[in-house]
Amino acid sequence: MTEPVNLKGKVAAITGGTRGIGRGIAEILLSAGASVAINGRNPGKGQQALKEIDAGDKVIFIAGDVTKQEDVEMFIGKTIERFGKIDILVNNAGGAKGFAPISELSDEAWQETASWILHSAFWATRAALQDMGPRRWGRIINISSVHGTQASKENVPHYITFKHALNGFTKAVALENGTKGITSNAISPGGIETDLMTESGPAAAESAGITYEEYKESYAQDSAIKRLNTVEEVSGLSLFLCSDMGAGITGAILPVDGGTVL
Ligand SMILES: NC(=O)c1ccc[n+]([C@@H]2O[C@H](COP(=O)([O-])OP(=O)(O)OC[C@H]3O[C@@H](n4cnc5c(N)ncnc54)[C@H](OP(=O)(O)O)[C@@H]3O)[C@@H](O)[C@H]2O)c1
Repeated sequence: MTEPVNLKGKVAAITGGTRGIGRGIAEILLSAGASVAINGRNPGKGQQALKEIDAGDKVIFIAGDVTKQEDVEMFIGKTIERFGKIDILVNNAGGAKGFAPISELSDEAWQETASWILHSAFWATRAALQDMGPRRWGRIINISSVHGTQASKENVPHYITFKHALNGFTKAVALENGTKGITSNAISPGGIETDLMTESGPAAAESAGITYEEYKESYAQDSAIKRLNTVEEVSGLSLFLCSDMGAGITGAILPVDGGTVL
């Protein structure tokens, strides 16, 4: 019989781990015995997350903004300084601002989204690989999106573009590290009502001329299950990928979207 997943002795770093999907992944990895470093821009949210997670010295929060290279490198550096190594990297923080069609999209919105989704994953992965490589074990998980494999919503061309690029990056990392015991996969969630959706959904809905309720419902109706997905559905797959059972899966773009991209 297969043993339950045991990540005792493993160290994970999760960008944007104080809320939403990243937080769910932090909690499930902690429950499997890993030590976890989470990050986020808001120190208040970080302290609140540590309090609620209540896992003592197994979890730390390091404030930083993943759109800034120095903050990302500091996050990986401090994780290694505190826990001695990094085994699991989850590039989770990401998003888009300035919803508009391509003809009207600002340079600022384009560049910020590139850093938020793509450059951040590059900076974190490059730093983490330097530690994982010599030890010949690693798990890299990039949180992509249904928008990483299809263009089904208008006014988010930057989000669509850089989530597609993140999937390409996932495959390139897998190819270069396959013989070193390091896997690299992307998870593509469908719509989940996290802070991201409640905070940026109304603006995205307005730019598409619909209400927020209609915007949310459009994600449900695009799927086969006719409902939004959940954080637990994404964190469960993350746990599997981090386990020894996940060692044979790499370079994959794995949907957790209730059959949206059929
Ligand atoms: N929710 C969905 O429907 C959905 C669907 C598909 C894919 N995704 C992807 O899933 C990932 C997580 O989204 P979520 O829905 O879980 O969002 P969320 O609930 O808003 O949580 C985001 C987390 O990331 C942190 N964060 C955001 N921007 C950051 C930055 N620049 N630097 C450092 N930390 C940052 C936030 O803390 P601070 O605010 O304090 O920084 C928070 O801890 C994103 O990549 C998103 O594109 C989400």
